[in-house]
Amino acid sequence: MTNYLSGFGNDFATEAVAGALPSGQNSPQQAPLGLYAEQFSGTPFTAPRAENRRSWLYRIRPSAMHPPFKRLDDGLIRSAPFTEAEPTPNRLRWDALLMPDGPADFIDGLVTICGNGEAAAHTGMAVHLYRANRSMTDRVFFDADGELLFVPQEGRLRLVTELGIVDIAPGEIAVMPRGVKFRAEILDATARGYVAENYGAMLRLPELGPIGSNGLAASRDFQTPVASFEDRDPKTQIVQKFAGHLWATEIGHSPLDVVAWHGNYAPYKYDLARFNTINTVSFDHIDPSIFTVLTSPSGVTGTANLDFVIFPPRWMVAEHSFRAPWFHRNVMNEYMGLINGAYDAKAGGFVPGGGSLHNCMAGHGPDQASFVTNSTADLKPFYWDLGLAFMFETQQVLCPTRFALETTALQRDYDSVWNGFEKLFKS
Ligand SMILES: [Fe+2]
Repeated sequence: MTNYLSGFGNDFATEAVAGALPSGQNSPQQAPLGLYAEQFSGTPFTAPRAENRRSWLYRIRPSAMHPPFKRLDDGLIRSAPFTEAEPTPNRLRWDALLMPDGPADFIDGLVTICGNGEAAAHTGMAVHLYRANRSMTDRVFFDADGELLFVPQEGRLRLVTELGIVDIAPGEIAVMPRGVKFRAEILDATARGYVAENYGAMLRLPELGPIGSNGLAASRDFQTPVASFEDRDPKTQIVQKFAGHLWATEIGHSPLDVVAWHGNYAPYKYDLARFNTINTVSFDHIDPSIFTVLTSPSGVTGTANLDFVIFPPRWMVAEHSFRAPWFHRNVMNEYMGLINGAYDAKAGGFVPGGGSLHNCMAGHGPDQASFVTNSTADLKPFYWDLGLAFMFETQQVLCPTRFALETTALQRDYDSVWNGFEKLFKS
């Protein structure tokens, strides 16, 4: 059983053993129950109060107790700066990747598709895909380069973390803050999904502006796990991603040994079905920013380092309008994925588990078949529930990895979906 605390970024307090949390202070001369106190900071000490994130952990052994990390092979994981292939202005689309041939846990099966920015400078983001057919055992992972936004597409995941246990299934998301150690276990035969690695400012709920005080994702629907710990002493490999590369060390106990914690820096999950979708009730296609679940701001107002946007089931009621996404060119860069079903601007080819990349100023929009359908449809109100797509939208150009350009999953004829538009102009 997993238990959760409700609210986005709240100041939580949770203990798995009664009396483990000190009362009235953070670092008493002796922490209760013989535990070690550790402050875990996700923002600088001096970050503004509204953005300041830190938690105090009370654990069986200090995190500091470990031998040196040594370099581990990066496998197919790549990181910013992305330099192994040229950024391309061409539109790219991929089929879903196959499961690895041999046994692969979350780390083994992780493959990077594209990214931007500079991990060591804490700016930009990366898009990874995970494919696992076994659970991680006696090893944990943490990412010093950024927070991880999990978007499961197939199979459930159990994320056993320092701060508690998070179970997610397709249709849900989870965010693992920078530095949190976790073990990913699969709860079905296989698990596959997307991961956005956010090197920049932490994801947060978007401002609501004229929408008002309710709508989109509600704070109360975000769930953070209660404290849960392991008091076990197996040899455990700790793998971290640091400045773009994997490093590993080994200790003689489980580091998931936090008996109690309090603070506002912790993993969380969210059920996308809880999203309160806002859209037009008169005419025209509204910008997809109206579907923003979480955003990582850049230093420029209104310009995201990373927006996580979904295209959920919703009523379509716009009158005398092209209801699907219109043709557009965008200064921002868009990676799209599909959790299930279909997407209303593509008649085919955009498949669950696949993805597409439309970089800065790349013309895109409905394919020819979707254009015909949407421009001739009888515009009755109807409930669109044919699938669940999402977008990672980012300020900086997304550079594909060599793997992404060479994999057989790359659809080399993607441009052709925009072939065949006849000249309809009549003077
Ligand atoms: Fe777009």
